[in-house]
Amino acid sequence: MNENVPNHVAIIMDGNGRWAQNRGLKRTKGHQKGAEVLKKISEYVYDKKIKVLSVFAFSTENWKRDKEEIDYLMKLFIKAFKGNFNVIKEKGVKVVFSGLKNKLSKKVIDTMDKMQEETKNNKNGIFNICLNYGGQDEIIEATKKISALVKDNKIDVKDIDKELFSKNLFNDLPPIDLLIRTSGEYRISNFMLWQMAYAELYFTDTLWPDFNEEEFDKALDAFNKRERRFGGVKK
Ligand code: FPP
Repeated sequence: MNENVPNHVAIIMDGNGRWAQNRGLKRTKGHQKGAEVLKKISEYVYDKKIKVLSVFAFSTENWKRDKEEIDYLMKLFIKAFKGNFNVIKEKGVKVVFSGLKNKLSKKVIDTMDKMQEETKNNKNGIFNICLNYGGQDEIIEATKKISALVKDNKIDVKDIDKELFSKNLFNDLPPIDLLIRTSGEYRISNFMLWQMAYAELYFTDTLWPDFNEEEFDKALDAFNKRERRFGGVKK
């Protein structure tokens, strides 16, 4: 088959908690394994010459979890951003974050800022980490920014188009071609709603900590079998 590599892949890494509970372990162990899997998969993605990878690390709804789990996740993020993703940097990938800064500790924000700063001139790919992220929030924030531009007479209402809207999102990213969600849940869960408009959706029962390169290839195979018409008709 003629391999058609998607430009932008997004992943909802679900099932860490269940993976741990199935083994009689604390939920946090599932996140620890999940972080290791993300490291491997992200390297694999850029080796495949996929340009953009977006991942859902923490949603605005995840604050409802126990403090112990939230604290663990925040520490895991700091650890990952400080060192575990060095290979990504070495591959010349630019790291960006999408989400609101409110509620995040200074320590987390500082490591995020440092990682963005260190990789800002990288051109080989983009790693978009959605942290304290909600898709509806992203659209609301963009609307506020655009409204301010209109109010200050910087733009006219008729200048508002898809391109301008995208430029005012947390990051101006290309459309998502392939969305992967693990753990047998068939939901979008408020993830990258704007960018997802014409994404091909791929769901697998595999829990995120069990996901691997072979599973990723299965998703790519499924993507290659899809016929993308973008609202047009079959040629
Ligand atoms: C969903 O599984 C997963 C999360 C809320 C956290 C995702 C975080 C990681 C994969 C850790 C590494 C991330 C980075 C950016 C270093 P769940 O806990 O909702 O699982 P469940 O549905 O089985 O309870």
